[in-house]
Amino acid sequence: MIGFIDIHSHILPGIDDGPKDIEASIELLESGEDEGIKTIVATPHFIRGMYEPKKEDILKKIKLVQKHTSIKILPGAELMIDPNFRKEDYFQYSINFSGKYVLIEFPVTGMFNFLDILKNIQSSGITPILAHIDRYPYLLNNLEILKDIIKAGIITHINGSSLVGNPHFFLKLIDNGFVHFVASDAHGVDWRPFMLKKAYKIVSSDLGMTADTLFYENPYRIINGKKLFINEPIIPRKKGIFRRRR
Ligand SMILES: [Fe+2]
Repeated sequence: MIGFIDIHSHILPGIDDGPKDIEASIELLESGEDEGIKTIVATPHFIRGMYEPKKEDILKKIKLVQKHTSIKILPGAELMIDPNFRKEDYFQYSINFSGKYVLIEFPVTGMFNFLDILKNIQSSGITPILAHIDRYPYLLNNLEILKDIIKAGIITHINGSSLVGNPHFFLKLIDNGFVHFVASDAHGVDWRPFMLKKAYKIVSSDLGMTADTLFYENPYRIINGKKLFINEPIIPRKKGIFRRRR
């Protein structure tokens, strides 16, 4: 086993709503080691007026925590959409600070012009990753919009915990090409733990090798700033097919 690469996590102490202190960070990372995670991107929230970590803070906290874990920690951030962000912000807070991919979140409720907002970020010359599409009912109920987002070259991921919670629905979403990788969005051992091992088992037993693409290959390409191979998503002809239980 080559080990999971987790692109979205809140593992650094006292920087956002993740672990409060170094002990809680270490406890969370130990559970990550047990899950089989080998590489993780620390993506603390950047939400204007609430959490505004500086690049140096992120690197400093990574250095502090790295001594206590065998998991390789890379820098990043999760940016809440904000009209005041400039082009430089997307680059400086990119995944692995490599200037190729940036993790973007929206408020989970509400209707937004997802496509235009993401395309606007993309026009800075960076590829947006739309965080946890499993958390936006508006998109899950409007797959045409999600399809257009992916056709525009935007990357999507789902949280492992959502997959474990509703495997039938999310396996369909994966199988129809709407998901490019699975990440944990872990916040703590009790609240939103990693759950990647379970999620991987679910995907591999149903969709075989696709699991490796979603848990290793695509995340590997992202941290190294390489392009992903994307297929056009397929919207099922029968309406509501995602909702039906087996
Ligand atoms: Fe997150």
